[in-house]
Amino acid sequence: MFGDRRLEVKTPEQIAVMREAGLVVARTLEVLRSAVAAGVTTAELDALAEETIRASGATPNFLGYHGYPASICTSVNDEVVHGIPSKRRLAEGDLISLDCGAIVDGWHGDAAITVPVGTVGPDLVELMRVCEEALWQGMAAATIGGRVSDISHAVESYVRSQGGYGVVEDYVGHGIGSAMHLPPNVPNYGRPGRGPRLVPGLALAVEPMITMGSIETRTLDDEWTVVTADGRLSAHFEHSFTLTDQGTLVLTALDGGAARLDALGVACAVG
Ligand code: MF3
Ligand code: CO
Repeated sequence: MFGDRRLEVKTPEQIAVMREAGLVVARTLEVLRSAVAAGVTTAELDALAEETIRASGATPNFLGYHGYPASICTSVNDEVVHGIPSKRRLAEGDLISLDCGAIVDGWHGDAAITVPVGTVGPDLVELMRVCEEALWQGMAAATIGGRVSDISHAVESYVRSQGGYGVVEDYVGHGIGSAMHLPPNVPNYGRPGRGPRLVPGLALAVEPMITMGSIETRTLDDEWTVVTADGRLSAHFEHSFTLTDQGTLVLTALDGGAARLDALGVACAVG
């Protein structure tokens, strides 16, 4: 209880604006997904993202964040997160994580998808599937009156049930709202029943990062790009979501999470 006071609890009106920001992010990620192809540079994807976000009347929140030089993160293959867009050309068989954020009237959205470039092998398709499903399992485990680590535990348990993937611990999910990164941390591992209590209006970004090998990471000399220490591939998916008295609302999903939550037996407050 005591520690919960520093958590930002949004009003329904504020959540409605966060939903607008989340939809900008969701639509931008769909534009990017369609643009991913062999021969495209990650800088071209960044330009397309910035244009799409601004055309929606929103502002990219990554740009200038602690000096970050772009509007999205593009993390290819062994890059886990925070890859900086560049002249690098995507090649057939690559995996790319696209991480995107936007601000509407001061309220933030943040989400990420990992997509294949052309056709990739079945092991990589499975890596992406497990990571995305772990994200949904995590959000589905969040209930009013539950605790933050219920999400963490559900993410980790799902990944562990699917094989020998590594669950990255060096980077975690976070609270979101009037800033992109707010307390609490939302780890992708741990025991359930720990951490702050989940209440309506608390908004969280859940973002599992899983690898084909070890969970050890290192940061490149550009001071942003995080890669796996063993060079094996990784995937990353992220959504921002909140709990309401009508159910769970995935702020950065086009359908508010309705389809995926329904499949998991969780009520969705489509907004
Ligand atoms: N979605 C990313 C995260 O939560 C945001 C990247 S911040 C940036 O870690 F500065 F790299 F853009
Ligand atoms: Co995030």
